[in-house]
Order: sequence, then structure tokens, then C-alpha cells
Amino acid sequence: MNEKTVLITGASSGFGMLASLRLAAEGYRVIASMRNTEKQTDLFRMLGEHKERVTVLELDVTSPESIDGLKEYLKETGRIDILINNAGFAFGGFGEEVTVIDYKSQFETNFFGVIAVTQAVLPHMRKQRSGKIINMSSISGLIGFPGISPYAASKHALEGYSESLRLEVKPFGIDVALIEPGSFSTNIWTTGRKVSSIEDSPYLVYMNAIENELEQGKEKLGNPADVAELIVKLCSKDSLTKLRYPAGKGVRISLFLKRILPWRMWESILIGKLLGKKTEL
Ligand SMILES: NC(=O)c1ccc[n+]([C@@H]2O[C@H](COP(=O)([O-])OP(=O)(O)OC[C@H]3O[C@@H](n4cnc5c(N)ncnc54)[C@H](OP(=O)(O)O)[C@@H]3O)[C@@H](O)[C@H]2O)c1
Repeated sequence: MNEKTVLITGASSGFGMLASLRLAAEGYRVIASMRNTEKQTDLFRMLGEHKERVTVLELDVTSPESIDGLKEYLKETGRIDILINNAGFAFGGFGEEVTVIDYKSQFETNFFGVIAVTQAVLPHMRKQRSGKIINMSSISGLIGFPGISPYAASKHALEGYSESLRLEVKPFGIDVALIEPGSFSTNIWTTGRKVSSIEDSPYLVYMNAIENELEQGKEKLGNPADVAELIVKLCSKDSLTKLRYPAGKGVRISLFLKRILPWRMWESILIGKLLGKKTEL
């Protein structure tokens, strides 16, 4: 059995909950953190015999008090081997119309939240001279799609932060890596997603085309258990030799095409897919 301790954020649903279940089954000690601990019921119902391996910790990654609580907890418990920065949500809307407040709130969770949790954990990993930090990015961390610039910007920021951090903490024996999923069937598309909607928006046709595309793509969404499995695989490795771990159908090919195609061709494919031949609104 594996005695390593894993802290995971956003363990109340989706990838976070599934990874907590799988890691507990593999023998890890799991600190399943969530901002609303009343949501632990589903997790505990599914844990069965592995219940004793999981501790639920209240943690809202945007709350300084909550981060102080995490620091206190870590002071008492000591060892932490793996951090999975998973908590996040997706804010959609067009750049002209999303308020700066909404952009900031997207960054508070998806970017600054990751930094705050990482800063709480790093002193422990540095003293141990070992650890893994796995940041849940997205294909949107490498490709900007229309209608989700708050989300794409927050995940692009996470990519840059993680790349630098990896180089900073590697000499202390700590590995930083990114998981970059495509589209998977979790709550992010329903309860997790927020969209800025403006009546009479000049972008309405575009927004409807995107919503339509999302609706049609629902059946093709990946199984989130695959991402949980990737998390387990990365946790079990001696070291994370790569910075980026893409996940899901079509992700690698999309990243490859973006890299090799001339920009003009790439953007006409993306816009054409949504608006057809109508390239002007
Ligand atoms: N599903 C996909 O297709 C996909 C693709 C690429 C990347 N991702 C990334 O995967 C991660 C997990 O998302 P998911 O797909 O599993 O969606 P999900 O089921 O909606 O899970 C999101 C989790 O984050 C938590 N969370 C949100 N804000 C938080 C905060 N301020 N503090 C602490 N926890 C917070 C949610 O808690 P509540 O239950 O309290 O809301 C929930 O547990 C996110 O970072 C997301 O960007 C998802």
C-alpha cells in the first residue's frame, strides 16, 4: 500500500472527486478539500472501505482565511507529497462585454487560488526535498477559443506560472506539471459554468453558434474517469519528466495543428466552424 499524502482542491465533484476516490483506493492518504464540506456526501458514499484514507478539509481557494486554515492544518500534519490544484470554473462571454470584475473573479479561482494553495504547500515540500504539484490546466491553456476569453486567459496564465515554477523548484526535488484536458463530462458545463449575457449583444449570433456547438458536442464529451486515471498515473511516477500532459480525444491533434498551420488558416477553420461562410457579423 502507498502511504503518500495527496492534497486535492475542488474534490466535491468532477475530476477532483473521482481522483480522490481512485487515489484512496490505491492506498494514498487523501486530503479531499472543498469549499462547501456539505458536498462530501457523494464522495463518502462511493468511498466504501477506503473511507478511513480520506480527510475532508474546508478550503475555498479564493479565501485568505481558508488558506490560513490550510497552513495551520499542514503545520499540524506535516508531510505532503502531492498537491493537485484542480479547483476551477469556466467563465464565458465576449471580451468587449465581460466586466473586469468578472475577469478578476475568474482569475481569483483559476489562477490566484492555485498560487495561494501552492505557496501554503511549498515550504513543506521544500523541507522534504521532494514533492509533486499537478496543476489542472486545459486545452484552453494553449488555445484561445472565442467566447471564453476569461477562462482561456486564466488557464494561459496558469501555464506560464507553472512553467516558471517548475524551473524554480526542480533543484529542490519538486516536480511541477500540467494536465491539459479537452472536453469532459463534468459539472463544469452546467453548475460550474458562468456566462456573461447581454441583451442586444452584437455578438449574439456568435454566442448562439458557440452554445449550439457546445450542445451538439455534449454526446462527445470524454469520460472524466480517464482524467482521474491520468492523475493516479502521474502520482505513482517517481518523477514527472514532462511539463505538459494533454488528455482527451482530439487534444493532441488540435495542439499539433495549431503549431504547424499558418495562423490565417487556423483562424479561418475556427471561425468557419462556428459561423460558416459568414465571416462578418
Ligand atoms: N470538464 C472539462 O471538460 C475540463 C476541461 C479542461 C479543464 N478542466 C478543469 O478541471 C478542473 C475541475 O473541473 P471539473 O471539470 O471537474 O468541474 P466541476 O465538476 O465543476 O468541479 C469543479 C470543482 O472546483 C470547485 N471550486 C470552484 N471554485 C472553487 C473555489 N473558489 N474554491 C475551492 N473549490 C472551488 C468546485 O466546488 P463546488 O462544488 O463548491 O462548486 C468543484 O469541486 C477545473 O480547473 C477545470 O477548469 C475541466
